[in-house]
Amino acid sequence: VKTGSDVFYRPTVHFSPTTGFMNDPNGLVFDGERYHLYYQYDPFAPYAGHVHWGHASSTDMLHWKDQPIAIPETEAGEAFTGCAVMDRANASGLFEDSKGGMVALYTRASPDRQAQYLATSHDNGQSFTEYAHNPVLDIGSNSFRDPQVIFHKPTNQWVMVVAKSRLHQSAFYASIDLIHWVHLSDFGPSGLFGVDYECPNLIEVPIESGGSRWVLFVSVNPGGPTGGSITQYFVGQFDGTRFIPDDTVIGLTDFAKDAYALQVYGNMPKAEAVSIAWLGNWQYCQELPTQSWRGCMTLPRTMTLRRDFAGWLRLAQTPRGLETLRDTAIAFEVKRIAAGASAQVALPPGKALELLLSVTVDERPRDLPLGDKGRTGRFVITFGNDQGETLTIGFDAFSGQLWLDRDELKGFAQPFFTGQFSTVLNPDDRHFEIRVVLDACTLEIFANGGLSVGTALIFPVSPLDFLRLEANGAGATVEQVELFQLRKVMER
Ligand code: FRU
Repeated sequence: VKTGSDVFYRPTVHFSPTTGFMNDPNGLVFDGERYHLYYQYDPFAPYAGHVHWGHASSTDMLHWKDQPIAIPETEAGEAFTGCAVMDRANASGLFEDSKGGMVALYTRASPDRQAQYLATSHDNGQSFTEYAHNPVLDIGSNSFRDPQVIFHKPTNQWVMVVAKSRLHQSAFYASIDLIHWVHLSDFGPSGLFGVDYECPNLIEVPIESGGSRWVLFVSVNPGGPTGGSITQYFVGQFDGTRFIPDDTVIGLTDFAKDAYALQVYGNMPKAEAVSIAWLGNWQYCQELPTQSWRGCMTLPRTMTLRRDFAGWLRLAQTPRGLETLRDTAIAFEVKRIAAGASAQVALPPGKALELLLSVTVDERPRDLPLGDKGRTGRFVITFGNDQGETLTIGFDAFSGQLWLDRDELKGFAQPFFTGQFSTVLNPDDRHFEIRVVLDACTLEIFANGGLSVGTALIFPVSPLDFLRLEANGAGATVEQVELFQLRKVMER
């Protein structure tokens, strides 16, 4: 049964399943023509359980076409998270002709065993046949899951990274045929405290100023600093045998709490690091206000590495190709906002929005009483409605910090559905630049060229129908404000 909430909260540019429950993205791969998005999927209920691999495909990672279920649950267990690779040279020997085909590697999970299985597709990822001699990797553990496989050119071998979840380790294995795997090394325990380490993903990411580094993403659940599920990352080198981090820094992909199980695309047509994460958190994903469907994905994101103000190489993420969805521009002329003043514009109903904003807050007024340490200079962005609901993003120029507040939306309450998050942009800069994508129950914030990203589920009761920009304590110069309606791409 479809409820009003099922329709109202359905994103139009973010992927979501027609019915049932969706979590992690799986098998992100380009097959030469299409991008595939497989996903953890219970087609029967809006809860996790009976996990299958759902499937959608696209030519731009934005317009998705639903495909039949790719890998079902079987008597051997649920089809947990995994990857897909293009075995073009028929290294597996499982394809008849020299064109090879797609190979999926994933975890079959039963209560007492998690082992890695292999399946082949002879029709470009539409359907899969399980290998006759599965599992291909079994260490007799019940917390050993989520394989990602890459072809490591320098050593001319396939490399798998897979989670030894409760040991907080990412284990590396090598193979020449995708079937026989040899243990190489273990990375960790290293990272945040927490319960399970999941979904390790390894990829070479370009540094914006030149060169590249390997980044190892490891998802942790529960135990994230913002609560529940979080994706952490390590920057370092991979020599074909082991991952060697550059330092002891732990990066987080997000300052809010709804971007989990980040996966990267394989077999990209050109060197480009692209990810999709599940836009959710295990703390409340099975209790969200929708009834017939639950779960959505983040936008595809291009990833680079950039040195931040402290000299660390940090991940920058920006939405990939979103410009192509820009529809009507909403007129909103703002150049200056005086201290205490605001500017407001009405938002048209029913569509996803993108806001681009570049602002410099005035210098701290000199006429403050001597010794007055009072903070001045907050720039506040509010999406709201006349029901008194507000979704607020704010910048504190005094400390260079950004906040997000989803607490004043009334559509969902649950003890773990906390509402306020913050991040530091540049501590010495009164200037900030932000890109905000608002799409039904999803919010994505990309600040300072994607160095700070906040991903959050949002549940207003009524449409947010105005946008207000406000300068508190100090005036602000608005160098850029652009507002676009985004074209609807998900037909549901
Ligand atoms: C991460 C995860 C994976 C597992 C899958 C089950 O969200 O727990 O470790 O394979 O979800 O759906």
